Amino acid sequence: MSTHSGAGGAPQPGPSASGSAETVLTVAGLDVHAGSTQLLHDVTFSIQRGERVGLIGESGSGKSLTALAVMGLLAEGLTATGQVHLAGQEKELLGASERRMSHLRGDRMAMVFQEPMTALNPTMKVGKQVAEVMTLHGTASRTAAARRAVELLAQVGLPDADAVARSYPHQLSGGQRQRVVAAIALANDPLLLVCDEPTTALDVTVQALVLDLIVTGVEERDAAMLFITHDLAVVATVCERVLVMYGGRIVEAGPVTQVLGDPQHRYTQGLVAASDLDRARARGQREPLDTIRGNVPAAGRFPDGCVFRNRCDFATSVCETLPPWTPRGDHSAGERAAGYACFHPVGGESDE
Ligand SMILES: Nc1ncnc2c1ncn2[C@@H]1O[C@H](COP(=O)(O)OP(=O)(O)OP(=O)(O)O)[C@@H](O)[C@H]1O
Ligand SMILES: [Mg+2]
Repeated sequence: MSTHSGAGGAPQPGPSASGSAETVLTVAGLDVHAGSTQLLHDVTFSIQRGERVGLIGESGSGKSLTALAVMGLLAEGLTATGQVHLAGQEKELLGASERRMSHLRGDRMAMVFQEPMTALNPTMKVGKQVAEVMTLHGTASRTAAARRAVELLAQVGLPDADAVARSYPHQLSGGQRQRVVAAIALANDPLLLVCDEPTTALDVTVQALVLDLIVTGVEERDAAMLFITHDLAVVATVCERVLVMYGGRIVEAGPVTQVLGDPQHRYTQGLVAASDLDRARARGQREPLDTIRGNVPAAGRFPDGCVFRNRCDFATSVCETLPPWTPRGDHSAGERAAGYACFHPVGGESDE
């Protein structure tokens, strides 16, 4: 199998270069810096219409930064370079004016965060907040938006939608609030929905329900979804494809069954083993400790070369250089759609 340089092999599927009009989001060579500290390195992936892509990795891997860079919501002081392209937009999103980005957000692209309260205005009734996203973007008149808001609230599983619409956020439960946020995110039929741990702050009993409603909303709109989560079991049920991130880099990517069922990168292998252990513990089984040794370093403290090498049991001196990206399977989907960057993959030596 041929290997390609990680940095040089980035696909550049612009709006039409890939020949597919169905690519909703293309991120290519995305770097994010905080001053001289590089937080994201050469993040490259794309999402097709109707496709749900998971983004997994330990805390501090760069998942939220990736989502925020796509949405144009990076904190002040952070700079992003590279390319972010959204279908139907002639111009790049990186470097776009805040005016243009806020026009796209809530309309062509929307995001659901972990904590619903941060997305809601505590002093406004929720029906008005759902309606406002439509009137602000000019997608409905005031009366139509008010009616549609109640419909949307009912669609996300709020039975007494009329009463909910007349409530303030603090009068609702966490699960109800996150449904309201989902209704706002879906109100203008976005092409892309980015969800960052959308249900982890909720009671376990409602997590699956709320996630199911979000996924149904995305499916009905044939939208693309980027779904950030710590839960590999959830990725396996919700997503078709998954990106594994560590140290601000995508270290492995591919169909969920391939990446989680037959991981190649030693980091992914560790994540999968740790998640199996979680499940075994949940069943009350006692098993030998099988977690990834050591901790995720602070930003800027990852080693050169393979970012994972100081925690990897298989690392050798070759890992001091940056591992090339080794594509797996069908390359027509784009070279980085499936593959891994590891010198000592699970399936055997790739490159030395
Ligand atoms: N505004 C910022 N300034 C400096 N460093 C930052 C900033 N935001 C994030 N970072 C650093 O970037 C790294 C990646 O952060 P990010 O929030 O993307 O992680 P994550 O994968 O989403 O983790 P979690 O699972 O805990 O949400 C972390 O080391 C974090 O401390
Ligand atoms: Mg995060």
